[in-house]
Amino acid sequence: MDKKKIRNFSIIAHIDHGKSTLADRILEMTDTVATREMQEQLLDSMDIERERGITIKLNSVQLKYKAKDGQEYVFNLIDTPGHVDFQYEVSRSLAACEGAILVVDATQGVEAQTLANVYLALDNDLEIIPVINKVDLPSADVERTKEQIENIIGLDTTDAPEISAKTGLNVEDVLEAIVAKIPYPMDANDKEPLRALIFDSYYDQYLGVVMSVRLRQGTIKVGDKIKMMSNGAEYEVTEVGVKTPKILKKDMLEAGEVGWISASIKTIKDVHVGDTITLAKNPATEPLPGYKKLKPMVYSGIYPVDNARYEDFKEALEKIELSDSALVYEPESSQALGFGFRVGFLGLLHMEVIQERLEREYNLNLIATTPSVIYRVTLTNGDVIEIDNPSLLPDPQKIKMIEEPYVNIKVTTPGEYVGDLMNLMQSKLGVYRDLVYVDDTRMELVYDMPLAEIIFDFFNKLKSISHGYASFEYEPIGYQESKLVKMDILLNGEMVDALSMIVNNQFAYERGRELTKKLKEIIPRQNFEIPVQASIGNKVIARETIKAYRKDVTWKLHAADISRKKKLLEKQKEGKKRMKQIGRVEVPQDAFVAVLKLD
Ligand code: GTP
Repeated sequence: MDKKKIRNFSIIAHIDHGKSTLADRILEMTDTVATREMQEQLLDSMDIERERGITIKLNSVQLKYKAKDGQEYVFNLIDTPGHVDFQYEVSRSLAACEGAILVVDATQGVEAQTLANVYLALDNDLEIIPVINKVDLPSADVERTKEQIENIIGLDTTDAPEISAKTGLNVEDVLEAIVAKIPYPMDANDKEPLRALIFDSYYDQYLGVVMSVRLRQGTIKVGDKIKMMSNGAEYEVTEVGVKTPKILKKDMLEAGEVGWISASIKTIKDVHVGDTITLAKNPATEPLPGYKKLKPMVYSGIYPVDNARYEDFKEALEKIELSDSALVYEPESSQALGFGFRVGFLGLLHMEVIQERLEREYNLNLIATTPSVIYRVTLTNGDVIEIDNPSLLPDPQKIKMIEEPYVNIKVTTPGEYVGDLMNLMQSKLGVYRDLVYVDDTRMELVYDMPLAEIIFDFFNKLKSISHGYASFEYEPIGYQESKLVKMDILLNGEMVDALSMIVNNQFAYERGRELTKKLKEIIPRQNFEIPVQASIGNKVIARETIKAYRKDVTWKLHAADISRKKKLLEKQKEGKKRMKQIGRVEVPQDAFVAVLKLD
């Protein structure tokens, strides 16, 4: 293959600026996908992605483009997600590219993630092509968007295509810009020892582990004996190919190409995203630079509702880890919930998505406990321990000091919401740092704040105060001492370890009251009275009572009101699936994350 005809690139953007829509248009215009097969947002193949309209997993596709110069080019397009929680996916895909198309929505301009993604692209030495999208909308302000790209990012926009990814207007200019501006893989040499970067992987029932790779040097073909450079594991290649986006088998992959490899790998832990593959015979001496391992920010206990499915759950976690390098987990057990795992996530959306994928893809019924950050506890004997599960906090007498992770948070918002947002930040123990003008309509609020306060319902409040206009990003700035206490919850007099939480002393009474009230709403009545108590140490700080039930919840409905009755019964049945028996009390999943939903 003529290396000069290869272009490897990603599309980067702030969330909703139109990456996936542009990718669809490109696929269509290069006839990669026959029009009748065209399904909107083709690269977003996971169900959750389609339903939520967000891109989570990166996906790559090879396409052919006949350019205006009369030559045919091979494009490898790698789609990337836009949400902060998935930033690590973005940097993974970028490491496999020479260039990036930066999509900016002309009705929104440059936003937080636009910048963050540009920095990632620059870190990877990529050529960036700015593209102005959504010019078909009346509210599009092309000139202002260009100005922002020039002033804030520092990219020249003289030739930036002005497109509508939706209608296809000027999308051809983007294709031509890819040919003209993105460099071909100049370091590609088929004759050197193989070095292929694994940038993604997943488990296939028949093929074993399938790895997405970018070949930097060398070639790889069916029958080759490969070696993982990090652990020396060796396998014989059974299939190689590219995605178009359908799986297309090939005889071999060459330097400069993006494709996939399978080698009947059943031992999942042999494969690490970021590792370099070489050949057992004539191996490379140096691996490619890998990825920085990301440290999870929040932890949650996840348990199968049916304890008999523990082994299935464990296997599902192993498989999902293949396609999600940021996931970490270890076994834990809870008196209330039995055997499960403590799982670390990059953020709340990441947690939600993983739980949903586990349930759907592996047909599991799971209960997740309230997420927690990692607390650093100095004991009176001088030892320092890290706690990611509130129920494991030692006896207060043994504790000298507790520290919690702080973040520096930047909230970008239209000016009119600044006052209310400052109140929100203060109520969340934020320490004011700065207030800056981004441009004539938007301001940026800068605070230091405990990470735990971002977990507890920060996002929803921010969105409701700003009518959806404010966005935020944060970065860890280390640990600070706080006055923290462990609050326990007792149901029917029994402490439920999975409901324990660590709270700031200042909020303890208020959270205790709100939480017991919420639990009273969530836990269905049973045939005996259930006291719900919040306690600190041995002191009860709040109490509610769930009254004994009337067996038929529909008793007060008029006999004619059948559809309503049916709905109620269905709701009850639905709820049953996620009930966990704790002592004598049946507790629904919602109770374990109730604290996230306090008003
Ligand atoms: P994530 O994958 O969630 O990060 O979003 P994305 O950047 O891939 O955005 P997506 O392609 O899903 O587009 C977001 C919304 O904008 C969708 O409703 C699109 O239909 C719409 N959209 C994208 N491009 C255009 C455009 O050129 N014009 C108009 N009017 N709408 C567009």
